[in-house]
Amino acid sequence: MSEASLAIAVPPFDVPRHVAIIMDGNGRWAAARGLPRVEGHRRGVEALRRTVRAASDIGISVLTIFSFSSENWSRPPAEVRELMSLLRRFIRHDLADLHRSHVRVRVIGEREGLDPDIAALLLEAEELTRENERLTLVVAFNYGARQEIARAAQRVAAEVAAGRLTAQGVTAEVLGRYLDASDLPDPDLIIRTSGEQRLSNFLLWQAAYSELVFLPIYWPEFDRAALEGAIVEYRRRERRFGGLAAKTGS
Ligand code: IPE
Ligand code: IPE
Ligand code: MG
Repeated sequence: MSEASLAIAVPPFDVPRHVAIIMDGNGRWAAARGLPRVEGHRRGVEALRRTVRAASDIGISVLTIFSFSSENWSRPPAEVRELMSLLRRFIRHDLADLHRSHVRVRVIGEREGLDPDIAALLLEAEELTRENERLTLVVAFNYGARQEIARAAQRVAAEVAAGRLTAQGVTAEVLGRYLDASDLPDPDLIIRTSGEQRLSNFLLWQAAYSELVFLPIYWPEFDRAALEGAIVEYRRRERRFGGLAAKTGS
């Protein structure tokens, strides 16, 4: 198949089930235009709206977005405040729309210590959309993969201490069940914008066999074409999972 025909074939054909995105480069997008960083974050929210619509149209089942990392608290307080209010505004303004579009919202990350109004909004989004089945939007907020794994380990240790699990019973499969969204499949494709080529503490456990695509555009520039381009690249990859290549017959 030529690249052009692959691109046209995006909708039903070989769509990754779970796409996860590190939405990076808002600040640099703004700086390149002589704008304050916050303007990049605002435009980033628009890119997020486009992406949710596109993912749903394309037939992706799970879209995970990295919106605020455990380490992002180290940014200047004014920027942290702005990112918090953008999240508040996103949920307040977009929740009804997301619900109408049959999007189910899930949130991963540490809830403890968040502003109570933000914690309440996250819970409201999850509860309102719980039964929706078109697209699951996983919002990684106050999320760090090492912290997530440590929290899972704490819960497993408590089970062992209570005698409900033996130390030998703590297999990768069992530990994996204690992660934040263990009922969802691992990401097939992880996309990072901005040209950086690192995971920055995102889904370290779940990314074991994900295909990684790094795009040289800033997050506010991301759109449906960029998502489809990343999927075309994903299809070119040969996933082996440690075994031998499967014959695809194409
Ligand atoms: C991504 O853009 C948004 C968050 C991390 C919250 P950045 O703010 O990291 O933008 P750059 O990487 O500084 O350009
Ligand atoms: C990762 O981006 C976090 C989010 C996109 C929310 P960062 O901009 O925080 O990552 P580093 O600091 O460049 O690794
Ligand atoms: Mg960044």
